[in-house]
Amino acid sequence: MRNATSGGPGRLAGNGAVAARAPAKVNVHLGVGRLRPDGYHELQTVYLAVSLFDTVTVRRAEGLSLTVRGEGSGDGRGPSGVPVDRRNLVWQAAELLARHAGISADADLEIDKTIPAAAGLAGGSADAAAALVALDALWGTRATRGDLATLAAELGSDVPFSLLGGVALGTHRGERLSPVLARRRWDWVLGIAGDGLSTPVVYAELDELRAAGTLPDGAELASTEPVITALRSGPAPALAAALSNDLQAPALRLRPELRRALRATTDAGARAALVSGSGPTVAGLADDEDTAVRLAAELAGAGVFRTVRAVHGPVHGARLVG
Ligand code: C5P
Repeated sequence: MRNATSGGPGRLAGNGAVAARAPAKVNVHLGVGRLRPDGYHELQTVYLAVSLFDTVTVRRAEGLSLTVRGEGSGDGRGPSGVPVDRRNLVWQAAELLARHAGISADADLEIDKTIPAAAGLAGGSADAAAALVALDALWGTRATRGDLATLAAELGSDVPFSLLGGVALGTHRGERLSPVLARRRWDWVLGIAGDGLSTPVVYAELDELRAAGTLPDGAELASTEPVITALRSGPAPALAAALSNDLQAPALRLRPELRRALRATTDAGARAALVSGSGPTVAGLADDEDTAVRLAAELAGAGVFRTVRAVHGPVHGARLVG
């Protein structure tokens, strides 16, 4: 096995560190089809990348090591629970890229988290996408964006979108993407709960509700056209009316208090509120930036969320910083 070429395509800071950041996402449409034999569900989803970023910094080293700071790291700034070993997607991203490049996986990996873990915001996927971009530069693997997208899809269904950013239609298990045009900026308030929700548990709850006949079986998926049209041209009420998420019902069943959180968000003045991905984050659509900031301040004092953030999208996908 050869060593990584020294230098890479630039961006190496004086101390040999390379950093990349990647955004959180909100699914403005999440249609979940039937359970496939491989354990995944067929999806039709519209992703929107929003302005909450994790940063991954990588340095030359022997072997792999990982540290996590910020949200979810157990360092006092958020709930603990982000693994610092091979179970972390960043570690897996390093091993996968090294194997692809035919080099040994040698790097110190550091994640600075702003995106809360297990929140339905694709925080782990953002970390994996940022790691691919940073390590490609550190190791000089010269992987194409297409190579990175293929590796991203192996790491998780949302990772290709974390790499791409912007707005995109995701199909199959969410990893096949077609970019969508959005002509304007969309402002949101994100209400983040204290405890995370496990994505597989929320999908399993959906399957149970469908098996019991409480929900339609998922054979017919709602059209993504209304949300794509609304995203393209606005105005906010059109997007508000088009927002939908098939994982909201199972998330509410697992976390009944989310109903109060959704109501608090619309009562405060959001055009509409929905659960983001598998939850439990609540995303409230605001008319503009000032409204999002006002909503964030009001909801921070309402006692229904651990943290509240005003964000906007679309924003870029994973890219080098510094
Ligand atoms: O792709 P990823 O590893 O992030 O998915 C995590 C879990 O979420 C899967 O193991 C599966 O239980 C569920 N999932 C699903 N259908 C999808 C995407 C994810 O059932 N399209």
